[in-house]
Amino acid sequence: MSAQIINGKQISETIRSEIRAEVDRLKEKGLRPGLVVILVGEDPASQVYVRNKAKACEDLGFYSEVVRIPADTTQDQLLALIDKYNADAAIHGILVQLPLPKHIHEKAVIDAIAVAKDVDGFHPISVGNLMIGDDALLPCTPSGCVELLKRTGNSPAGKHVVVIGRSNIVGKPVSMLLLRENATVTMCHSKTPNLPEMARQADILVVAVGVAKLVKHDWVKPGAVVIDVGMNRLPDGKLCGDVDYDDVADTASWITPVPGGVGPMTITMLMSNTLKAAKIASG
Ligand code: GUN
Repeated sequence: MSAQIINGKQISETIRSEIRAEVDRLKEKGLRPGLVVILVGEDPASQVYVRNKAKACEDLGFYSEVVRIPADTTQDQLLALIDKYNADAAIHGILVQLPLPKHIHEKAVIDAIAVAKDVDGFHPISVGNLMIGDDALLPCTPSGCVELLKRTGNSPAGKHVVVIGRSNIVGKPVSMLLLRENATVTMCHSKTPNLPEMARQADILVVAVGVAKLVKHDWVKPGAVVIDVGMNRLPDGKLCGDVDYDDVADTASWITPVPGGVGPMTITMLMSNTLKAAKIASG
């Protein structure tokens, strides 16, 4: 039997409708969520991401600013800009698009963003809040993965989740978030011996390693749910995930496609975080 598709585009649209309805309610109280996106330099992929974030703001009725500054901007200039937005009451979320030019320290920049406006969830205090279980601003891609599971009736509670990948942006936070959701979580990575056997233990398999089509059908327990966070560009220009979709589709019960699975959720969760930050800021 072929797996059911976890349609991230459709689920993302549903969540956006919910956000839109709430933005309309807040408007009556005179509150409009505001997001600033800062792009340093002209990385082509980043330009596309930033444009999509601005479009999402417009679509949902948020106030938004996009600040494009040259690649030779100094770290101090960038930190001063962040400070300005930290103090700006119309702005509830600050996102500095990564990667940054080499002369700017990513950590110094992330640390400078006010925790209350850290809609990426990358600040060390946000990461700590996630660990402790506080109701913090949660990182977007990991919370998108959890939404996809919950909204397809695949609650992680009581399930064995195997996460492959230990990045700060996805692997570690998604593991912690799934633990909070009462899953039993096994974290695997490139140095884990016998990865396929580990992966085969999973009721829910989350893959975020950045290796095209790494996961084959013999890595997947029959009936498992597969969440593919990978986004890899093949030599022919096509996008593909870390999971060999065609090979795995007959073994899994549910699977996210690439594109159209986890991808669309990231910006939607960013919008959700900005809305949440706005509501908290307004008391
Ligand atoms: N670059 C690629 N993905 C992201 C993201 O989620 N947040 C930021 N700030 N930069 C990114």
